[in-house]
Amino acid sequence: MRVGILTGGGDCPGLNAVIRAAVRKGERHYGDQLLGFLDGWRGVVENQTMELNVERCRGILPRGGTIIGSSRTNPYKVADGVNRAKATFEELGLDALIAIGGEDTLGVAHKLVRDENLPVVGVPKTIDNDLSGTEVTFGFHTAVQIATDAIDRLHTTAESHDRVMVCEVMGRHAGWIATYAGIAGGAAEVLVPEEEFDIAEVCDFITKRHESGRYASIVVVAEGAKPKEGTLALQSGETDAFGHVRLGGIGNLLAEEIERRTGFETRVTILGHIQRGGTPTAYDRVLATRFGVAAIDAVHDDGFGSMVALQAGQIVRVPLEVAVGELKTLDHHLLEVAEVFFG
Ligand code: F6P
Repeated sequence: MRVGILTGGGDCPGLNAVIRAAVRKGERHYGDQLLGFLDGWRGVVENQTMELNVERCRGILPRGGTIIGSSRTNPYKVADGVNRAKATFEELGLDALIAIGGEDTLGVAHKLVRDENLPVVGVPKTIDNDLSGTEVTFGFHTAVQIATDAIDRLHTTAESHDRVMVCEVMGRHAGWIATYAGIAGGAAEVLVPEEEFDIAEVCDFITKRHESGRYASIVVVAEGAKPKEGTLALQSGETDAFGHVRLGGIGNLLAEEIERRTGFETRVTILGHIQRGGTPTAYDRVLATRFGVAAIDAVHDDGFGSMVALQAGQIVRVPLEVAVGELKTLDHHLLEVAEVFFG
């Protein structure tokens, strides 16, 4: 078969491991011919590809990023994008496409299968871990480890200076990274998009904590965390092709306000794209490899319209529709665990 692969949306540690696994099993086991679309859906719309084979994939397992590039191009927002994508399938004689991405990339995949009958299989990727249908997405574990390492480092400098440290992590709509890293790093507060926070309460916690003899506090905040209405004004930024506002800034606002209200010296660290770069953890390499193998198997097993997923430790297939239907927000039991250590 002739099988295309694309990586869409924000990059994520483990993308290359998925590509390598699908190529390896495709070429060696099924005798497939594989090609990578450049920069996500842009490559499909513009028919831009590169050859993928076992040789080309040597050495990429531990490498972050994606050798075929990524973008947030949305074929439904580009002039004649869907027809051009269909034409690319025809011109290349493509039998299948493996789309590796999050809610946006897989949302497009779902529509192309449902409305255009294109043969697409999905692989769940996002450091944010907010895709439904799978217990975990690859990349999440690596991002949590990076954030935890950063919090460990912030602890020692915070203690030396008796400071409050605000650490802003990614998580547009879901607080998975914030909560996992907050628990693992021993944060005094974790603020997530799923629950609006009250700045007065946050400051109260910190003040009480300091009164009881603890002088350093780590506050982990997800970039999408929101203050209760009317309590703090947030600035809105530009939007991308999928309509998402560019975030990053709540940490600064929070740090300023904590210092102003409590009088404690406060600093902010915004981890940003550091969480997405670099080598994947062993866990993510294994998960990504399992997903890659499962995706090429699905291609040969008429699994179009499905996404490979992890459920109860096993790799399964779920309909793309389920995966992109509703965002997988934080499990509140997890937040309750974090809350035991607040203040
Ligand atoms: O979707 C994953 C994500 O990492 C979000 O948490 C974050 O808001 C966004 O990507 C940032 O993406 P960009 O690369 O466009 O700045």
